[in-house]
Amino acid sequence: MALDVNRSDLVVGVVGTGAMGRGIAQVTAQGGMKAVMFDAAAGGAEKAKVAILETLKGLAAKGRLTDEDVAKTGANLAVADKLEDLKSCHVIVEAVFENLEVKQKLFGELEAAVSPETILASNTSSIRIASIARSLKHRERVCGMHYFNPVPLMKLVEVIRAADTAQWVTDAMVALGKRQTRVPVVVGDTPGFLVNLGGTAIGTEGLRIMQEGRATPSQIDAVMRDSCGFRMGPFELMDLTGIDVNFPARKIIYEGFFHDRRMTPSPYHESLYAAGRLGRKTGGGWYGYDAKGAKVDPGADHLPSVVPAARVVVMDTHNEKLVGLVLAAGAQALAADDGKSPILVAPIGKDCTTTVVERGLDPRRTVAVDLTGDVAKRLTIMTAPGADDLVRDAAAAILARSGAKVTLIKDSPGFVAQRMCAMIANLGCEMAMIGIASAADVDTAMTLGLNYPRGPLALADWLGVRDCHEILVQLQAITGDDRYRPSQWLRRRAQLGLSATTIE
Ligand SMILES: NC(=O)c1ccc[n+]([C@@H]2O[C@H](COP(=O)([O-])OP(=O)(O)OC[C@H]3O[C@@H](n4cnc5c(N)ncnc54)[C@H](O)[C@@H]3O)[C@@H](O)[C@H]2O)c1
Repeated sequence: MALDVNRSDLVVGVVGTGAMGRGIAQVTAQGGMKAVMFDAAAGGAEKAKVAILETLKGLAAKGRLTDEDVAKTGANLAVADKLEDLKSCHVIVEAVFENLEVKQKLFGELEAAVSPETILASNTSSIRIASIARSLKHRERVCGMHYFNPVPLMKLVEVIRAADTAQWVTDAMVALGKRQTRVPVVVGDTPGFLVNLGGTAIGTEGLRIMQEGRATPSQIDAVMRDSCGFRMGPFELMDLTGIDVNFPARKIIYEGFFHDRRMTPSPYHESLYAAGRLGRKTGGGWYGYDAKGAKVDPGADHLPSVVPAARVVVMDTHNEKLVGLVLAAGAQALAADDGKSPILVAPIGKDCTTTVVERGLDPRRTVAVDLTGDVAKRLTIMTAPGADDLVRDAAAAILARSGAKVTLIKDSPGFVAQRMCAMIANLGCEMAMIGIASAADVDTAMTLGLNYPRGPLALADWLGVRDCHEILVQLQAITGDDRYRPSQWLRRRAQLGLSATTIE
């Protein structure tokens, strides 16, 4: 069986015309297909049609659409008074309330109303597609079609193939997504699908670093923005999406993967949830917000008020970035310890304590510097417990001369940037390995769905695949936590010196 999605008379039913259904109907109609909308609430679908037309007229007023586009799209929008009126649809996309019983009942009613060839897709964000399909006669035509909010602006759509979904259905929905000018990725029917699963790494690792008292939310966010090029750090993102949304989502995914420690939620996250500090919407979450809704950021910059050291011992002399920073600041870089100058090291995955012990350095004078990412913007430093603050600041003052901001954190294996990026990369590699999606689609989805500067596998390449693997090996050794075990996908590519995106 096959459905020619490119046929000119293709009709797509949209059931549930709230925030998501409206967007789905809009991109369907704009793609030149007929979108028939149905909502259980009286007048709901009609209201949605009016709202879509308003949106289109707004776009025309801004010159983004012509009046002809608006008229054509408008003519593709239709309203159904009852479910049975969707009988002639080739595809039906459901976007009703996120409730399994509601969806199961609706799919049962749809099956009774439409032909066995009609594709039935759900836009659920968290319910297993197979569980929606399980009591139907023709489960092979059921799949997920997971759009992102707001649909017209978010190009990604995850096509979810459940246990019984037929290949022709997946193929047809990929083609339909393209006709709707989306970028479809094919994803397994697993908890969080692709983007919501992949997105757990940044949140849970940020929380872990904060929970360990290594860095503050403000510091972690600043490092992710300035050093790693992320539009937002994990804490500002949690505040934006709402703790009432992201904490339960974290729990569902953790439970769904049977307590895989890579996905462990944080009790600190739960504390905010329990307190009703839900982020921007309640005027406070990880950050406070002023009366105008602007974030009150305690700041992430360490401003040393001491004179920069004239000499520093650069233990990692092969590290051109590190030596360059010292020389550019007009300081002398010593290759051997003179017994009094600050000692700079640039560990990969290790904390400062482990580094000084292993290398026999003076823990009071050793400053570890993270050179991950954009060193012109921000550098992260840390010292071992008991370090001399004045020596540390004399070294920090040298680094600050480059114009980069300096963030001082507590001793942490992998600082912030290495640790966060390695964890995002590792989960992406694992997702590719266990077949949640292809390696290319993991990267595509994470960049489009979450606005990441690069996908997780590309992030491993950006860190250096061997360094990325080493960061995780060290994190696992130092913390003793299975959470940091490297994905075999990553390990093999690190061993062979290959890009993390290399497919098997
Ligand atoms: N909002 C998001 O950011 C987002 C993103 C991706 C996926 N989703 C998923 O999309 C679905 C819809 O979310 P939403 O935010 O648009 O919800 P919403 O509350 O804005 O809209 C749901 C609509 O469904 C209608 N409805 C409820 N039961 C119905 C039924 N049995 N038959 C017909 N209509 C019915 C309601 O009247 C309402 O208009 C949910 O499954 C949600 O998880 C939401």
